[in-house]
Amino acid sequence: MGKIDFKPGNMLYPLPAVLVTVRTPGGEDNIITVAWTGTVCTNPPMLYISVRPERYSYQALKETGEFVINLTTGPMAKAVDYCGVRSGRDVDKFARTGLTKMEASKVRAALICESPVNIECRVKEVLPLGSHHMFLAEVVHVTVDERYMDEKGTFHLEGSDPIVYSHGTYFNLGNAIGTFGYSVRKKKKRKKKT
Ligand SMILES: Cc1cc2nc3c(=O)[nH]c(=O)nc-3n(C[C@H](O)[C@H](O)[C@H](O)COP(=O)(O)O)c2cc1C
Repeated sequence: MGKIDFKPGNMLYPLPAVLVTVRTPGGEDNIITVAWTGTVCTNPPMLYISVRPERYSYQALKETGEFVINLTTGPMAKAVDYCGVRSGRDVDKFARTGLTKMEASKVRAALICESPVNIECRVKEVLPLGSHHMFLAEVVHVTVDERYMDEKGTFHLEGSDPIVYSHGTYFNLGNAIGTFGYSVRKKKKRKKKT
């Protein structure tokens, strides 16, 4: 089997492409698209976003220490791209994309109503890594769209048409191929008909 050597680089894909909302100390709401993000701890619930210092959002993140991660869907894909190629220095991204704002519960930043999940975060540490600074943050509140809850109280993110980002392209998720632990789960025996 042939393998080709690549120079060290970012090859960890696919990734989520999330919309991060921030509010300047002056009260102006902005949205930045972020793919360098991930979960880092279950308890306490913690995650990170990595942002270049030259981004307009960076200053607000640094000054307020608060932000919201809004998960994204197929119908939101165009807005996701737009918020990643235009700056809040020049445009009001809420107005341009038509995304709807809602007040967050615990942090000073807007939630995006169209998102199936809004994750409110408070920054614990900023790590200047190089091109990007990593904002390590604790999750302080979560809201989900009630449309994706079933009668048993289980949340079904897959119902919202979540998107992922891979090597410059946005994709929908494909089909489910298994659930946690399915590789070792014993099959239920069928009862023989008498
Ligand atoms: C799919 C996608 C993912 C991106 N991921 C990041 C990221 O992880 N970190 C970052 O600093 N910029 C990222 N960007 C670029 C910023 O979103 C972009 O520079 C944006 O215009 C900055 O907005 P602002 O100037 O209003 O803060 C991404 C852009 C796209 C389209």
